[in-house]
Amino acid sequence: MHSIHTQVGIVGAGPAGLLLSHLLHLEGIESVVIEAHSRQYVEGRIRAGVLEQGTVDLLIATGVGDRLRQEGLLHHGIYLSFDGRRHRIDLTGLSGGRSITVYAQHELLKDLIQARIDAGGQILFEAPAVSLRDLDTATPAIGFRQDGQLHELACDFIAGCDGNHGMCRPSLPEGRLAVYERLYPFAWLGILAEAPPTSEELVYGYHERGFALFSMRSPKITRLYLQCPRDEEIANWPDDRIWGELRTRFATSDGWAPAHGPIVHKGITEMRGLVVEPMQYRNLFLAGDAAHIVPPTGAKGLNLAVADVRVLAGALAEFYTSGRRRLLDQYSKTCLRRVWKVQRFSWWMTSMLHRFEGDGGFDQRRQLAELDYLTSSQAAMTALAENYVGLPIEGC
Ligand code: APR
Ligand code: PHB
Repeated sequence: MHSIHTQVGIVGAGPAGLLLSHLLHLEGIESVVIEAHSRQYVEGRIRAGVLEQGTVDLLIATGVGDRLRQEGLLHHGIYLSFDGRRHRIDLTGLSGGRSITVYAQHELLKDLIQARIDAGGQILFEAPAVSLRDLDTATPAIGFRQDGQLHELACDFIAGCDGNHGMCRPSLPEGRLAVYERLYPFAWLGILAEAPPTSEELVYGYHERGFALFSMRSPKITRLYLQCPRDEEIANWPDDRIWGELRTRFATSDGWAPAHGPIVHKGITEMRGLVVEPMQYRNLFLAGDAAHIVPPTGAKGLNLAVADVRVLAGALAEFYTSGRRRLLDQYSKTCLRRVWKVQRFSWWMTSMLHRFEGDGGFDQRRQLAELDYLTSSQAAMTALAENYVGLPIEGC
């Protein structure tokens, strides 16, 4: 078996793994990223696309923000639409000048991959990790398969950045992890449409027929989501049914509506909340979706992965400069404080804006009253704004 060595072995070339490798490189720390899929697959996977202020600042400050600055869409507010009216939330005004940027996740991955390659970084594509060993020693190792051969990456630390369906989380010894989970009784049907966005900012819609979200990717591409049953089949949603439902759920007295156009992508997104504790075991550190999943209503998945690896990179830098493990030993505790706050915010947005089966008139009027209170109270809007643009990241 061929064996290679590095300081930090990273499983997964998603936002967590790639950004961690980039941040470590800037600290002079070597890493190798092992990714199961091809570069093309990773760069083509359609996901979400809202970046918090802190995420944007970090990407620009570390030299991977040029295209983001040119092509990202800077937004200073969002709309909440309910009862036939849109209400604007002034994110920037209510959060002391902070904003969000709409920039597709797969575009960010292209930037991070290019930056790693330009810096001589190692990303092994089409190399699924299959085993972890010696996690409780100073020389843990990752077994991976490439070109039909078994290889091994020996390292000082392993970063499990392999997402919700990866192999790192299940590799921990039985009983070492507590799993906290909430499964929502619905899903999102998401589309990409070749249609010019008719609103400059995102629109979160509450309607008795279910939630709807208006977002965008560029001046030519609109991104839209609809609440649908949990185990829904795409085949049940021909294009005209999708447009009909969007028209109904977004119907507003000012006549605003999303423009129609050819639908070029359709997908169903599960709605789940999950956190594992702790986020580390000896020399294995979990980051991003490998440690936690949030429903997409708060647009937090990507930003939470960024926050984790920012803390982890800082802790590894402390270790490699001073030999101290203080920040490493606190990694899980530091991250989980923010993870649960973000989980709460995502649960709150989801609970306020979706229809739950079995909910009757009482719950519907309660949700409408919450939206009415939220859009008429400075304090309530400020709380939403500070969470939406991004809570501060402690410990780094
Ligand atoms: N070996 C190597 N790579 C693996 C393995 C494995 N056994 N299992 C999974 N991977 C890879 C996946 O192919 C994927 O590219 O790990 C990567 C995990 O990336 P993400 O799922 O994007 O997770 P993360 O980097 O934590 O980013 C979280 O991504 O899914 C969105 O909404 C989510 O925005 C959030 C963000
Ligand atoms: C998106 O643009 O894909 C998007 C925006 C906001 C969300 C989720 C997804 O809450």
